[in-house]
Amino acid sequence: MSLRVAILISGSGSNMVALARSMQGDHPARPCLVLSNRPDAGGLARASEMGIPTAVVDHRPFGANRAAFEGALQEALAAARPDLIALAGFMRILGPDFVGAHAGRMLNIHPSLLPKYRGLDTHARAIAAGDSEAGCTVHEVTPALDDGPILGQARVPVLPEDTPETLAARVLPMEHRLYPLVLRRVAMGDKTPITLP
Ligand code: GRF
Repeated sequence: MSLRVAILISGSGSNMVALARSMQGDHPARPCLVLSNRPDAGGLARASEMGIPTAVVDHRPFGANRAAFEGALQEALAAARPDLIALAGFMRILGPDFVGAHAGRMLNIHPSLLPKYRGLDTHARAIAAGDSEAGCTVHEVTPALDDGPILGQARVPVLPEDTPETLAARVLPMEHRLYPLVLRRVAMGDKTPITLP
């Protein structure tokens, strides 16, 4: 019986596509839902084209009522019965009650070499700091932002002429390699961290 993986997105869903494509053949997991907080997320159409059920819980009607929004997220997720949850370009901060309900079963990919550069604008911050390398991290989601146990990291060089855009373009393909590798390993019950290259 395959593990059921729900993938949460807010945008283009390129990481979602990489994860979904990896869950085939002898892979122990299969995607069971792609859920977005944005009705216009491009990843929803990509998921549908791949035959993956989709759902939308638009955060905007809930305003500042995070608890109500997360309650609606929980309902949408419960219907899909996920064993694992993968945040993939999901741009809402999730509160401790939501995170606690999925402790140890929720992953996120963040575009920096954590613990450096939690939060936003990671590539601009790495360039401004004069870092020689940057990258991405897959970690378990805990109540603290971008702070859970690291499950994998991928490193890329920062080049002198890099802009945040050129650096992001170098990191993103590594995200698409790293996240599926980590998900497969976690689905097999192994949380030993992976390092690329
Ligand atoms: C990626 O850089 C990811 O690290 C960040 O959101 C960006 C877009 O991801 N969390 P995707 O193309 O929507 O998967």
